[in-house]
Amino acid sequence: WRTGGAPAREDSTAVSDPAQRTARRRRYLMCPPEHFDVSYSINPWMNPEKPTDASIALLQWSRLRSLYLDLGHDVELIDPEPGLPDMVFAANGATVVDGRVLSARFRFRQREAEGPAYLEWFRENGFRTHEAFWVNEGEGDYLLVGDRILAGTGFRTDERSHVEAARFFRREVVTLDLVDPRFYHLDTALAVLDDDLIMYYPEAFSTWSRGVLRSLYPDAVIAGDHDAEVFGLNAVSDGKHVLLAQEATNLADQLADRGFTPIGVDLSELLKSGGSAKCCTLELRGEPAR
Ligand code: ARG
Repeated sequence: WRTGGAPAREDSTAVSDPAQRTARRRRYLMCPPEHFDVSYSINPWMNPEKPTDASIALLQWSRLRSLYLDLGHDVELIDPEPGLPDMVFAANGATVVDGRVLSARFRFRQREAEGPAYLEWFRENGFRTHEAFWVNEGEGDYLLVGDRILAGTGFRTDERSHVEAARFFRREVVTLDLVDPRFYHLDTALAVLDDDLIMYYPEAFSTWSRGVLRSLYPDAVIAGDHDAEVFGLNAVSDGKHVLLAQEATNLADQLADRGFTPIGVDLSELLKSGGSAKCCTLELRGEPAR
């Protein structure tokens, strides 16, 4: 269990699952938090009275970006826009599968302009785009697990967007109901570890959705209150390395037991806005259509 820096040599202790995890090279889109601030409150973590420091946010974000580069991944950048303090949360900017982009349409007017800003980046970079009709907050609520898309609703993404996504991506989309306002996006309560493995916090979901998750992923890693509350589930996995909030130590131990290499990151400044590693990271899957 390590914090920051390049991954050290594999530590074979505590690996009870003999499965050899393999990393797949990823391409991510990120947005530097140059204008980071908590000037409004649209989730229970955001307190505009509490001071924030954009330079600390930028430093923590830069370490996350360096980690991706050290692990051999590609990181593209989008220019941050003044007046959009949440634009750092690139995961909300769109959903990208097979080089096809479903634009984001934000629930709250404070973030509305982020949708077109991200869409513009995708158009300029040659992706096939579809302008969403229904409210959806990108990979905040859409997570690809193998061929299937898990889709959150309850606080942000409109359930009707799930049908739009299924048609656009031609994939199975499984609707999951979020019930705890602290876990307002799917990616705050569930993370994709591999093509057939996830980790999640059951209490964030309705009874029905818990049943769905249990039957689809009987081997899932289950998070407890503490790890969920420090945003340990807002994690990014490349199939082997899992980047997650450094405070989520129980989750890290469980991941190591399953043969993953957990890497703790300090994103305390971004947590003041209700975000962590995954929120800052949008995966670009597939090549632009051109
Ligand atoms: N302050 C932002 C909001 O409430 C945080 C977004 C976090 N992003 C995420 N993918 N969960 O909208």
